[in-house]
Amino acid sequence: MDRSGYGAALVTGGGSGIGRQCALTLAHRGAKILVTDLNAEAADRVAEEIRGLGGAAEAMAMDVTDPSQVEAAFSRAEALWDGVDILVNSAGLIIVEPLLDFRLETFEKVMSVNVAGSFLTGQRAARTMARRGYGRIVNLSSVSGQRAGVGRAAYGTSKAAIIGLTRQFALELGPLGITANAVAPGVIETPMTLNAYSQETWEKVLGMVPTGRRGRPEDIAEAVAYLASPHASYVNGEVLTVDGGYMATGMTQTGSIALRR
Ligand SMILES: NC(=O)c1ccc[n+]([C@@H]2O[C@H](COP(=O)([O-])OP(=O)(O)OC[C@H]3O[C@@H](n4cnc5c(N)ncnc54)[C@H](O)[C@@H]3O)[C@@H](O)[C@H]2O)c1
Repeated sequence: MDRSGYGAALVTGGGSGIGRQCALTLAHRGAKILVTDLNAEAADRVAEEIRGLGGAAEAMAMDVTDPSQVEAAFSRAEALWDGVDILVNSAGLIIVEPLLDFRLETFEKVMSVNVAGSFLTGQRAARTMARRGYGRIVNLSSVSGQRAGVGRAAYGTSKAAIIGLTRQFALELGPLGITANAVAPGVIETPMTLNAYSQETWEKVLGMVPTGRRGRPEDIAEAVAYLASPHASYVNGEVLTVDGGYMATGMTQTGSIALRR
């Protein structure tokens, strides 16, 4: 590992939103970044952005559901930097359908990208990390993995499964010097939510967030960077919720419910 203490990182879904910001934040702290994404051009743009800021980054197209592409990306990281110290699994997909009409095809697609993809990349990363006796795996769960949401039979289930997957990794990899943790974002303003939410939905959702603002990719990247750092060596199998306080609230959560004096 180099003097930054962060070494080299592979970020999935690094071409957009939270993944992009994780790549930028880790690069700012001195990590070398392999930016990967299904969207090759987006990954290239982010790597270029990092290099423009004086950081070290390479880009590669990688579909997290394709074992041969996953193998190719990690082999490249091995050729470049003897492998990665950090894996951030940010590639993700949301498709919302009413439960009674939910298609199996949709369910399998979302589970494949969000869950099987994180399993595949995590397993491949861990093989190198185990050889080197050090590693940090950070998965992106969601408050949707802890609370049900309309139309989220697949997305919510996938994000709950990410918590289970993270704990499995934490248990089996802990003895090898590798930690696995998850960050569970609340509502963060990224292309994913900007496409999925109407103005009305934003207003309703923000009514349930004590902090009263939309989350920013930077809010999540800071949490990811902590878990990815050497300082978090005794944090393992944890889910760090970063949601402006949404999960802390209950039935009388909105300001519209008046207090009796
Ligand atoms: N934005 C939020 O409010 C929010 C909240 C909770 C959790 N999350 C999670 O954070 C992660 C990032 O979300 P975001 O908001 O930045 O989304 P985003 O849509 O901006 O970015 C997701 C990226 O993943 C890539 N991707 C999709 N399928 C892929 C595949 N098969 N292989 C590789 N890359 C693929 C996309 O090309 C895209 O660049 C996701 O896992 C999401 O579920 C987001």
